[in-house]
Amino acid sequence: TVYDCNVLELNKIHNQAGNITVIESNLNIPFPIKRVYYLYDVPGGESRGGHAHKNLYQLIVAASGSFDVLLDDGRNKKIVKLNRPNYGLLVVPGLWRELFEFSSGAICLVLTSEKYDANDYIREYKQFSEWKKIKK
Ligand code: TYD
Repeated sequence: TVYDCNVLELNKIHNQAGNITVIESNLNIPFPIKRVYYLYDVPGGESRGGHAHKNLYQLIVAASGSFDVLLDDGRNKKIVKLNRPNYGLLVVPGLWRELFEFSSGAICLVLTSEKYDANDYIREYKQFSEWKKIKK
């Protein structure tokens, strides 16, 4: 459910030359990282996502700038604002998600538990609702 998706505080190694945040599989995130991708140059007013994953875990980080993430488990919704590079939103499988309100220059870094698999996506909200009903 959306309540399983928490914002995790990541580490921050700070010195006078700046900061480093380290993310390691199974250490500070609860899945092995198989893929990394990032969204950038998102035009103002655009939204991304608009799908659900059946099996995929993700950690979403605002590596630069800020954006909002809507999560929807078919019953409850929540919106999380990400705006710090040392916080990451854990997104569990089975949720509809939308990303919007990107600031200019925002970088949305996504770490995932599986390689890309088009069959893991549900891209129609109606299909998502039906899939959730069958699963219950
Ligand atoms: P899409 O899932 O629609 O992006 P978003 O959810 O961020 O709005 O992906 C856009 C395109 O990129 C689509 O053609 C699939 C492709 N893609 C890959 O080939 N591999 C990947 O790992 C990802 C995330 C997307």
